[in-house]
Amino acid sequence: MGTGRISFSATCAVVLLGLIMNSSALHCNRGITSSFIRVSSPSVDMPFDSDVFQVPPGYNAPQQVHITQGDHVGQAMIVSWVTPDEPGSSLVTYWPKKSKEKYVAEGYYLTYNYYNYTSGFIHHCTIPNLKYNTKYYYEVGDGNVTRKFWFRTAPPVGPDVPYTFGLIGDLGQTYDSNKTLTHYEQSPLKGKTVLYVGDLSYADDWPFHDNVKWDTWGRFTERSVAYQPWIWTAGNHEIDFEPLLGETVPFKPYSSRYHVPYNSSGSTAPFWYSIKRASAYIIVLSSYSAYGKYTPQYTWLEQELPKVDRTETPWLIVLVHSPWYNSYNYHYMEGETMRVMFESWFIQYNVDVVFAGHVHAYERSKRISNNAYNITNGLCTPVSNKFSPVYITIGDGGNIEGLATNMTEPQPSYSAFRESSFGHGMFSIKNRTHAYFSWNRNQDGYAVEADSLWFHNRYWYPTTETTISI
Ligand SMILES: [Fe+2]
Repeated sequence: MGTGRISFSATCAVVLLGLIMNSSALHCNRGITSSFIRVSSPSVDMPFDSDVFQVPPGYNAPQQVHITQGDHVGQAMIVSWVTPDEPGSSLVTYWPKKSKEKYVAEGYYLTYNYYNYTSGFIHHCTIPNLKYNTKYYYEVGDGNVTRKFWFRTAPPVGPDVPYTFGLIGDLGQTYDSNKTLTHYEQSPLKGKTVLYVGDLSYADDWPFHDNVKWDTWGRFTERSVAYQPWIWTAGNHEIDFEPLLGETVPFKPYSSRYHVPYNSSGSTAPFWYSIKRASAYIIVLSSYSAYGKYTPQYTWLEQELPKVDRTETPWLIVLVHSPWYNSYNYHYMEGETMRVMFESWFIQYNVDVVFAGHVHAYERSKRISNNAYNITNGLCTPVSNKFSPVYITIGDGGNIEGLATNMTEPQPSYSAFRESSFGHGMFSIKNRTHAYFSWNRNQDGYAVEADSLWFHNRYWYPTTETTISI
């Protein structure tokens, strides 16, 4: 009998312990540091004679063709390309699929010098008045050397329009970069537009910021960005500020080569702007332009956020290069001053997700905020906040600088999942309430998801996603 009582008590203790552990698991819910160990290999740029950098055949053939959205709503496209030998034509001939009529848009070209480098002739042409959800062919070049590409315009802007965005950051031009781009292209999720979170060519890692690397990067990425728009964010490798070389105009190569429709969102500079695409409202910010109170970027964002109509575009997405929440020992607190300036607004306006790059790894946060601190109250720890965005660092494109492998330990409570591998992400909007985010690492097959989350929209369905409670 006594034994029975002891046994009963022991069972209770085990059950109780189990309950405590379960409860602890429920309430503490520490984030996951992935156990995946990537085989380490050096990050080496692909050589100049690689097939991915091939110059298209023919005299003065257009190269480095790339497109991006050309207005605020997705009915225009900016087409850009480089002619190496002479200006040639800045016209784009375009026509909808099956159309017998062809149309012509006229652009212009520019050149720039950087230290001892002189660019080719960089053409930019905005094609206006496109029909939504339509496949267009377009042709650039002149004489006997023209090149033909195609793109599909976005569906009309609306609250339940499904759409899939790819997410790539810090790509560079190494063998790993090529794997990342191939994985994005081959993904069965079929991304339709890339949200690019900054740091493109890494030319500035080479002597004299070797701008030939900007040309090779343009040729490398053409196979994707000539066919679907990439939405550009400026990173630190776009600054190219080098007074010792006499180069004192920040962002000169980047802003000469990559144009964005900043005018159409009332921005006064190409480094911060917004677009609508399908059911998403995308705000691009610049970590490397002034954002203090009264600055142009601050004033623009202050006026921009109230304009977002969530009944028209339920998904509010922000792109910025330097992450605000980052538990790697790289670029520690570099995003902190911008977080202090803007985090309260993001909560007030229910931003769904903030994508950043800069740290060469992957990390997804829980829904947290850290804006209660007022210097005297000691409230400087991130806390759970259902109205906060999820912060995703996706600077894992695979550039010459290699992976960020060193993490803060223990994993902070705000960090839901982190892994030091190269890869890319996909954000697939299903309707106004749900979107599916997934992350693919380059070591896996194209369809394998190493991390994923069903997003609940912060405006239409602001309940906590099952896997991200703090
Ligand atoms: Fe960066």
